[in-house]
Amino acid sequence: MNQKLLENKVIVITGGSGLLGRSFVSCVAEHGSVAVIADTDQAKSSRFMQELSSAGADDHVVFIKADITSKTSLESLISELHHRFGKIDALVNNAYPRNTSYGAKFEDVTYDNFSQNVSMHLGGYFMASQLFAGYFKKQGYGSIVNMASIYGVVAPRFSIYEGTDMTMPVEYAVIKSGVIHLTKYLAQYLKGSNIRVNCICPGGILDQQPEGFLSRYNSFSGTKGMLDPKDLQGTLLFLLSDLSKYINGQNIVVDDGWSL
Ligand SMILES: NC(=O)c1ccc[n+]([C@@H]2O[C@H](COP(=O)([O-])OP(=O)(O)OC[C@H]3O[C@@H](n4cnc5c(N)ncnc54)[C@H](O)[C@@H]3O)[C@@H](O)[C@H]2O)c1
Repeated sequence: MNQKLLENKVIVITGGSGLLGRSFVSCVAEHGSVAVIADTDQAKSSRFMQELSSAGADDHVVFIKADITSKTSLESLISELHHRFGKIDALVNNAYPRNTSYGAKFEDVTYDNFSQNVSMHLGGYFMASQLFAGYFKKQGYGSIVNMASIYGVVAPRFSIYEGTDMTMPVEYAVIKSGVIHLTKYLAQYLKGSNIRVNCICPGGILDQQPEGFLSRYNSFSGTKGMLDPKDLQGTLLFLLSDLSKYINGQNIVVDDGWSL
């Protein structure tokens, strides 16, 4: 693959210090872009920056503490990037805000917790998109990639969680189907302004899940089963680069056939 697919771009990855974010940051920096980690977790981000530095891979990476649920924080992120680089090429909406009650079974989700989680995650993606799209409009170009999930596309397979503490939270289904449609809405709304908006729906990502769950999950997969963060890199690169110049408002499912 062309090593400089994203040469001289400035790409913001919210939640850039998380499981998928770290992989995205490394990948876009390797392909010639400035990768901006926009994350609330200062300590985790500092550790990540340290790791990149030890590996000699921090040249094109910057960390700016930012919170997608705060308009002030997003505005100062955009303003700082404009001052430092004079432009922003793309936003990857990848943060994963959730409150301490997130992950409860359907019967146990309160109205307040439901509303708060939807507001932080889907609302945060909305607000980041609104503010970055405003900047992109003035600039004359831009791109947004939203991270959704297969659970925004298909109904959950609750049986794979049996015997574990895990479930597929109702908020997540609502948030991720909302993210997919937010993508289409924005692509249509911004049509003609040289701003593309697309979406990626990953399947489950391997992260120390219990054995029984893994074998039940993997039985629905094609060849690999749960994916690794690296398995999403190609799709992100494609959507951020000119290879997908005329792809707009689309959703790409990357799940090894799990949702078929
Ligand atoms: N991990 C999976 O299996 C999986 C599968 C499908 C989709 N996804 C989606 O991919 C995205 C990333 O998931 P992940 O597994 O890497 O999550 P993660 O929890 O590992 O990382 C999320 C990051 O977001 C940061 N964050 C939290 N609230 C924030 C806020 N308000 N503003 C800015 N940053 C904030 C956290 O500090 C963390 O570094 C999410 O949208 C998630 O729904 C993940």
